[in-house]
Amino acid sequence: MDLNAPPSLLDRLLDRSVYFSFDASGYRRHAQKFDPADDQIQLEDQVWLVTGANSGIGRATALGLARRSATVVLVCRDEARGSAARAEIQRLSGHPNVQLEIADLSSPGSLRALAERLPHPEINGLVHNAGALSDTRQLTPEGNELTWATHVLGPFLLTKLLSPRLKAGVASRLIFVSSGGMYTQRIDLSDLDWSQRPFDGTVAYAHAKRAQVILTKEWAQRLAPAVSVSAMHPGWVDTPGVEKALPRFYRFTRGRLRTPEQGADTVVWLAAAPRERIPTGRFWFDRRPAPEHLLERTKEHQEDRDRLWRHCEAAVAVNE
Ligand SMILES: NC(=O)c1ccc[n+]([C@@H]2O[C@H](COP(=O)([O-])OP(=O)(O)OC[C@H]3O[C@@H](n4cnc5c(N)ncnc54)[C@H](OP(=O)(O)O)[C@@H]3O)[C@@H](O)[C@H]2O)c1
Repeated sequence: MDLNAPPSLLDRLLDRSVYFSFDASGYRRHAQKFDPADDQIQLEDQVWLVTGANSGIGRATALGLARRSATVVLVCRDEARGSAARAEIQRLSGHPNVQLEIADLSSPGSLRALAERLPHPEINGLVHNAGALSDTRQLTPEGNELTWATHVLGPFLLTKLLSPRLKAGVASRLIFVSSGGMYTQRIDLSDLDWSQRPFDGTVAYAHAKRAQVILTKEWAQRLAPAVSVSAMHPGWVDTPGVEKALPRFYRFTRGRLRTPEQGADTVVWLAAAPRERIPTGRFWFDRRPAPEHLLERTKEHQEDRDRLWRHCEAAVAVNE
Protein backbone atom coordinates (compact mmCIF):
# COMPACT_ATOMS: atom_id res chain seq x y z
CA MET A 1 0.00 0.00 0.00
CA ASP A 2 1.20 3.53 -0.84
CA LEU A 3 1.35 5.22 2.58
CA ASN A 4 1.22 8.68 0.97
CA ALA A 5 -1.77 8.04 -1.30
CA PRO A 6 -4.64 10.49 -0.71
CA PRO A 7 -7.74 9.06 1.02
CA SER A 8 -10.19 7.26 -1.27
CA LEU A 9 -13.80 8.44 -1.75
CA LEU A 10 -14.97 5.64 0.58
CA ASP A 11 -12.45 6.73 3.22
CA ARG A 12 -13.66 10.31 2.97
CA LEU A 13 -17.30 9.25 3.32
CA LEU A 14 -16.56 7.03 6.32
CA ASP A 15 -14.55 9.82 7.95
CA ARG A 16 -17.39 12.27 7.43
CA SER A 17 -19.79 9.88 9.16
CA VAL A 18 -17.78 10.44 12.41
CA TYR A 19 -19.22 7.16 13.75
CA PHE A 20 -17.04 5.01 11.46
CA SER A 21 -14.05 7.27 12.04
CA PHE A 22 -13.96 7.86 15.80
CA ASP A 23 -14.74 4.18 16.50
CA ALA A 24 -12.35 1.20 16.45
CA SER A 25 -13.09 0.44 12.78
CA GLY A 26 -11.93 4.00 11.96
CA TYR A 27 -8.69 3.35 13.82
CA ARG A 28 -8.06 0.07 11.98
CA ARG A 29 -8.77 1.71 8.61
CA HIS A 30 -6.49 4.69 9.36
CA ALA A 31 -3.78 2.38 10.75
CA GLN A 32 -3.35 0.80 7.32
CA LYS A 33 -1.55 4.01 6.35
CA PHE A 34 0.72 4.17 9.39
CA ASP A 35 4.44 3.83 8.69
CA PRO A 36 5.65 0.76 10.67
CA ALA A 37 9.14 2.30 10.87
CA ASP A 38 7.69 4.97 13.21
CA ASP A 39 6.89 2.26 15.75
CA GLN A 40 10.57 1.35 16.08
CA ILE A 41 11.76 4.81 17.19
CA GLN A 42 13.19 4.66 20.72
CA LEU A 43 13.16 7.38 23.37
CA GLU A 44 16.02 6.30 25.64
CA ASP A 45 17.59 9.17 27.63
CA GLN A 46 14.34 11.12 27.36
CA VAL A 47 12.19 12.20 30.30
CA TRP A 48 8.41 12.35 29.75
CA LEU A 49 5.65 13.47 32.11
CA VAL A 50 2.13 12.12 31.59
CA THR A 51 -0.73 13.53 33.67
CA GLY A 52 -3.65 11.29 34.59
CA ALA A 53 -1.39 8.31 33.93
CA ASN A 54 -3.10 5.75 36.19
CA SER A 55 -6.08 5.05 33.93
CA GLY A 56 -7.34 4.78 30.37
CA ILE A 57 -5.51 6.73 27.67
CA GLY A 58 -2.96 8.21 30.08
CA ARG A 59 -1.89 4.78 31.35
CA ALA A 60 -1.68 3.44 27.78
CA THR A 61 0.40 6.50 26.80
CA ALA A 62 2.78 6.00 29.71
CA LEU A 63 3.10 2.30 28.84
CA GLY A 64 3.79 3.16 25.18
CA LEU A 65 6.53 5.62 26.19
CA ALA A 66 8.05 3.15 28.67
CA ARG A 67 8.09 0.47 25.96
CA ARG A 68 10.18 2.90 23.92
CA SER A 69 12.59 3.18 26.86
CA ALA A 70 11.76 6.73 27.98
CA THR A 71 11.94 7.62 31.65
CA VAL A 72 8.27 8.19 32.39
CA VAL A 73 6.95 10.27 35.27
CA LEU A 74 3.34 9.38 36.05
CA VAL A 75 1.53 12.42 37.43
CA CYS A 76 -1.48 11.10 39.35
CA ARG A 77 -3.70 12.55 42.05
CA ASP A 78 -4.10 9.37 44.09
CA GLU A 79 -1.13 7.57 45.64
CA ALA A 80 -2.67 4.07 45.63
CA ARG A 81 -3.98 4.25 42.04
CA GLY A 82 -0.70 5.79 40.90
CA SER A 83 1.44 3.11 42.60
CA ALA A 84 -0.66 0.32 41.10
CA ALA A 85 -0.31 1.84 37.61
CA ARG A 86 3.41 2.31 38.07
CA ALA A 87 3.91 -1.35 39.06
CA GLU A 88 1.79 -2.54 36.13
CA ILE A 89 3.61 -0.33 33.59
CA GLN A 90 6.99 -1.52 34.89
CA ARG A 91 5.85 -5.15 34.62
CA LEU A 92 4.31 -4.85 31.15
CA SER A 93 7.11 -2.77 29.65
CA GLY A 94 9.98 -4.53 31.42
CA HIS A 95 11.35 -0.99 31.88
CA PRO A 96 12.32 0.11 35.41
CA ASN A 97 12.41 3.89 34.87
CA VAL A 98 8.81 4.64 35.73
CA GLN A 99 8.38 7.25 38.46
CA LEU A 100 5.33 8.50 40.30
CA GLU A 101 4.48 12.04 41.35
CA ILE A 102 1.28 12.97 43.11
CA ALA A 103 -0.45 16.15 41.95
CA ASP A 104 -3.95 17.40 41.31
CA LEU A 105 -4.27 19.28 38.02
CA SER A 106 -7.11 21.41 39.38
CA SER A 107 -4.96 22.71 42.26
CA PRO A 108 -2.38 25.44 41.58
CA GLY A 109 -0.69 24.80 44.94
CA SER A 110 -0.30 21.12 44.14
CA LEU A 111 1.22 21.91 40.72
CA ARG A 112 3.65 24.45 42.15
CA ALA A 113 4.79 21.88 44.73
CA LEU A 114 5.21 19.30 41.95
CA ALA A 115 7.36 21.68 39.89
CA GLU A 116 9.49 22.48 42.93
CA ARG A 117 10.27 18.88 43.84
CA LEU A 118 10.70 17.45 40.32
CA PRO A 119 14.36 16.48 40.16
CA HIS A 120 14.76 16.54 36.36
CA PRO A 121 16.65 19.61 35.04
CA GLU A 122 15.60 18.75 31.48
CA ILE A 123 12.26 17.43 30.30
CA ASN A 124 11.70 16.13 26.77
CA GLY A 125 7.96 15.85 26.84
CA LEU A 126 4.82 16.72 28.74
CA VAL A 127 1.48 15.08 27.93
CA HIS A 128 -1.56 16.94 29.25
CA ASN A 129 -3.93 14.01 29.48
CA ALA A 130 -5.65 14.27 32.88
CA GLY A 131 -9.31 15.04 32.53
CA ALA A 132 -12.85 14.27 33.53
CA LEU A 133 -16.39 15.14 32.56
CA SER A 134 -18.44 16.15 35.59
CA ASP A 135 -22.25 16.21 35.62
CA THR A 136 -22.40 18.72 38.46
CA ARG A 137 -21.04 22.25 38.81
CA GLN A 138 -18.13 22.22 41.22
CA LEU A 139 -15.88 25.11 42.13
CA THR A 140 -12.26 24.73 43.22
CA PRO A 141 -11.07 26.50 46.40
CA GLU A 142 -9.75 29.22 44.04
CA GLY A 143 -13.31 29.70 42.70
CA ASN A 144 -12.75 28.16 39.26
CA GLU A 145 -15.18 25.69 37.70
CA LEU A 146 -13.57 22.25 38.07
CA THR A 147 -13.61 21.23 34.39
CA TRP A 148 -11.97 24.50 33.35
CA ALA A 149 -9.48 24.29 36.22
CA THR A 150 -8.46 20.71 35.35
CA HIS A 151 -8.29 20.92 31.55
CA VAL A 152 -7.24 24.54 31.00
CA LEU A 153 -5.82 26.41 33.99
CA GLY A 154 -3.87 23.48 35.48
CA PRO A 155 -2.16 22.54 32.20
CA PHE A 156 -1.47 26.24 31.54
CA LEU A 157 0.23 26.66 34.93
CA LEU A 158 2.17 23.40 34.67
CA THR A 159 3.39 24.31 31.18
CA LYS A 160 4.48 27.71 32.45
CA LEU A 161 6.30 26.20 35.43
CA LEU A 162 8.05 23.54 33.35
CA SER A 163 8.73 25.47 30.16
CA PRO A 164 12.36 26.35 31.13
CA ARG A 165 13.03 22.61 31.54
CA LEU A 166 11.21 21.78 28.33
CA LYS A 167 13.32 24.38 26.54
CA ALA A 168 16.42 22.80 28.10
CA GLY A 169 15.48 19.34 26.76
CA VAL A 170 16.50 18.26 23.27
CA ALA A 171 13.73 18.50 20.63
CA SER A 172 11.07 18.72 23.34
CA ARG A 173 7.36 18.29 22.86
CA LEU A 174 4.17 19.34 24.55
CA ILE A 175 1.02 17.36 23.76
CA PHE A 176 -2.60 18.06 24.69
CA VAL A 177 -5.12 15.21 24.69
CA SER A 178 -8.18 17.12 23.54
CA SER A 179 -11.45 15.64 22.28
CA GLY A 180 -13.53 15.47 19.13
CA GLY A 181 -16.28 16.96 21.33
CA MET A 182 -14.51 20.32 20.97
CA TYR A 183 -15.83 20.51 17.37
CA THR A 184 -19.21 21.55 18.83
CA GLN A 185 -17.92 24.59 20.73
CA ARG A 186 -16.76 28.14 20.07
CA ILE A 187 -14.59 29.74 22.74
CA ASP A 188 -16.66 31.98 25.01
CA LEU A 189 -15.23 33.42 28.20
CA SER A 190 -18.40 35.18 29.33
CA ASP A 191 -19.65 32.73 32.00
CA LEU A 192 -16.78 30.38 32.78
CA ASP A 193 -17.99 29.61 36.29
CA TRP A 194 -21.51 28.79 35.05
CA SER A 195 -23.12 31.20 37.51
CA GLN A 196 -25.57 32.56 34.90
CA ARG A 197 -27.01 29.35 33.39
CA PRO A 198 -27.79 25.76 34.36
CA PHE A 199 -24.64 23.66 34.35
CA ASP A 200 -24.13 21.35 31.36
CA GLY A 201 -21.11 19.10 31.96
CA THR A 202 -20.84 17.97 28.35
CA VAL A 203 -20.71 21.56 27.10
CA ALA A 204 -18.26 22.61 29.84
CA TYR A 205 -16.02 19.67 28.88
CA ALA A 206 -16.18 20.29 25.12
CA HIS A 207 -15.56 24.01 25.67
CA ALA A 208 -12.46 23.30 27.78
CA LYS A 209 -11.25 20.94 25.05
CA ARG A 210 -11.72 23.74 22.48
CA ALA A 211 -9.61 26.01 24.70
CA GLN A 212 -6.84 23.37 24.73
CA VAL A 213 -6.70 23.41 20.93
CA ILE A 214 -6.49 27.21 20.85
CA LEU A 215 -3.81 27.26 23.54
CA THR A 216 -1.83 24.70 21.54
CA LYS A 217 -1.37 27.33 18.82
CA GLU A 218 -0.55 30.03 21.36
CA TRP A 219 2.05 27.90 23.17
CA ALA A 220 3.50 26.82 19.81
CA GLN A 221 4.30 30.45 18.94
CA ARG A 222 5.73 31.23 22.36
CA LEU A 223 7.83 28.08 22.81
CA ALA A 224 9.22 27.90 19.26
CA PRO A 225 11.67 26.76 18.15
CA ALA A 226 12.75 24.78 21.21
CA VAL A 227 9.47 23.02 21.93
CA SER A 228 7.02 21.55 19.44
CA VAL A 229 3.40 21.74 20.57
CA SER A 230 0.54 19.51 19.39
CA ALA A 231 -3.04 18.69 20.27
CA MET A 232 -4.81 15.51 19.26
CA HIS A 233 -8.08 13.72 19.79
CA PRO A 234 -8.18 10.01 20.48
CA GLY A 235 -11.56 9.12 19.00
CA TRP A 236 -14.02 7.18 21.19
CA VAL A 237 -12.10 5.06 23.67
CA ASP A 238 -13.23 2.39 26.12
CA THR A 239 -11.98 3.84 29.42
CA PRO A 240 -13.29 4.06 32.99
CA GLY A 241 -13.79 7.80 32.38
CA VAL A 242 -16.23 7.26 29.50
CA GLU A 243 -18.09 4.46 31.26
CA LYS A 244 -18.62 6.65 34.33
CA ALA A 245 -19.33 10.01 32.68
CA LEU A 246 -21.37 8.87 29.67
CA PRO A 247 -23.13 5.61 30.68
CA ARG A 248 -25.75 5.73 27.90
CA PHE A 249 -23.19 6.53 25.19
CA TYR A 250 -21.02 3.76 26.64
CA ARG A 251 -23.81 1.16 26.50
CA PHE A 252 -24.71 2.18 22.94
CA THR A 253 -21.17 2.20 21.51
CA ARG A 254 -19.39 -0.28 23.76
CA GLY A 255 -18.58 -2.92 21.15
CA ARG A 256 -17.26 -0.25 18.78
CA LEU A 257 -15.02 1.75 21.11
CA ARG A 258 -11.27 1.87 20.66
CA THR A 259 -8.94 0.22 23.15
CA PRO A 260 -6.91 2.60 25.37
CA GLU A 261 -3.81 1.62 23.32
CA GLN A 262 -5.55 2.69 20.12
CA GLY A 263 -6.66 5.92 21.81
CA ALA A 264 -3.08 6.59 22.94
CA ASP A 265 -1.50 5.68 19.61
CA THR A 266 -1.33 9.21 18.20
CA VAL A 267 0.05 10.59 21.48
CA VAL A 268 2.91 8.08 21.45
CA TRP A 269 3.45 8.72 17.75
CA LEU A 270 3.60 12.51 18.34
CA ALA A 271 6.15 11.82 21.10
CA ALA A 272 8.44 9.78 18.87
CA ALA A 273 8.03 10.74 15.20
CA PRO A 274 10.75 12.94 13.66
CA ARG A 275 10.06 16.60 14.52
CA GLU A 276 10.14 17.65 10.84
CA ARG A 277 7.04 15.50 10.25
CA ILE A 278 5.12 17.26 13.02
CA PRO A 279 4.71 20.97 12.31
CA THR A 280 4.14 22.74 15.62
CA GLY A 281 0.73 24.10 16.65
CA ARG A 282 -1.38 21.53 14.81
CA PHE A 283 -4.32 19.30 15.74
CA TRP A 284 -3.97 15.56 14.98
CA PHE A 285 -6.12 12.46 14.71
CA ASP A 286 -4.79 9.00 13.90
CA ARG A 287 -1.31 10.32 13.02
CA ARG A 288 -2.67 12.84 10.51
CA PRO A 289 -3.37 16.56 10.76
CA ALA A 290 -7.08 17.09 11.43
CA PRO A 291 -9.21 20.20 10.90
CA GLU A 292 -9.69 22.40 13.96
CA HIS A 293 -13.24 23.32 12.96
CA LEU A 294 -16.02 21.45 11.21
CA LEU A 295 -18.56 24.26 11.65
CA GLU A 296 -18.32 27.90 10.63
CA ARG A 297 -19.96 29.01 13.89
CA THR A 298 -17.16 27.65 16.11
CA LYS A 299 -14.37 29.69 14.48
CA GLU A 300 -12.70 32.24 16.75
CA HIS A 301 -10.76 35.41 15.95
CA GLN A 302 -7.26 36.36 17.04
CA GLU A 303 -8.75 38.67 19.67
CA ASP A 304 -10.57 35.67 21.22
CA ARG A 305 -7.29 33.79 21.34
CA ASP A 306 -5.53 36.79 22.91
CA ARG A 307 -8.33 37.13 25.48
CA LEU A 308 -8.06 33.45 26.39
CA TRP A 309 -4.32 33.76 26.87
CA ARG A 310 -4.71 36.86 29.08
CA HIS A 311 -7.44 35.11 31.08
CA CYS A 312 -5.14 32.12 31.76
CA GLU A 313 -2.20 34.38 32.67
CA ALA A 314 -4.36 36.31 35.12
CA ALA A 315 -5.97 33.20 36.61
CA VAL A 316 -2.70 31.42 37.33
CA ALA A 317 -1.03 34.62 38.62
CA VAL A 318 -3.63 35.05 41.39
CA ASN A 319 -1.97 32.65 43.81
CA GLU A 320 1.62 33.46 42.94
N1 LIG B 1 -12.14 8.07 26.38
C1 LIG B 1 -12.49 8.82 25.36
O1 LIG B 1 -13.27 8.40 24.48
C2 LIG B 1 -11.93 10.20 25.21
C3 LIG B 1 -12.30 10.92 24.07
C4 LIG B 1 -11.79 12.20 23.90
C5 LIG B 1 -10.91 12.72 24.84
N2 LIG B 1 -10.58 11.99 25.94
C6 LIG B 1 -9.64 12.61 26.90
O2 LIG B 1 -8.63 11.69 27.23
C7 LIG B 1 -8.09 11.98 28.50
C8 LIG B 1 -8.05 10.71 29.32
O3 LIG B 1 -9.38 10.26 29.55
P1 LIG B 1 -9.78 8.73 29.73
O4 LIG B 1 -10.92 8.50 28.83
O5 LIG B 1 -8.57 7.90 29.63
O6 LIG B 1 -10.39 8.77 31.20
P2 LIG B 1 -9.98 8.06 32.57
O7 LIG B 1 -9.76 6.61 32.36
O8 LIG B 1 -11.01 8.50 33.55
O9 LIG B 1 -8.58 8.73 32.92
C9 LIG B 1 -8.52 10.08 33.32
C10 LIG B 1 -7.29 10.29 34.14
O10 LIG B 1 -7.21 11.67 34.51
C11 LIG B 1 -7.02 11.73 35.92
N3 LIG B 1 -7.54 12.98 36.47
C12 LIG B 1 -8.78 13.49 36.39
N4 LIG B 1 -8.85 14.65 37.06
C13 LIG B 1 -7.61 14.86 37.56
C14 LIG B 1 -7.03 15.89 38.34
N5 LIG B 1 -7.75 16.93 38.77
N6 LIG B 1 -5.74 15.79 38.68
C15 LIG B 1 -5.00 14.73 38.29
N7 LIG B 1 -5.48 13.73 37.56
C16 LIG B 1 -6.78 13.80 37.20
C17 LIG B 1 -7.75 10.51 36.47
O11 LIG B 1 -7.33 10.23 37.77
P3 LIG B 1 -8.25 9.35 38.79
O12 LIG B 1 -8.14 7.92 38.35
O13 LIG B 1 -7.63 9.64 40.09
O14 LIG B 1 -9.65 9.86 38.66
C18 LIG B 1 -7.30 9.49 35.44
O15 LIG B 1 -5.99 9.06 35.73
C19 LIG B 1 -9.00 13.06 29.12
O16 LIG B 1 -8.39 14.33 28.96
C20 LIG B 1 -10.25 12.96 28.27
O17 LIG B 1 -10.93 14.18 28.24
C21 LIG B 1 -11.08 10.75 26.16
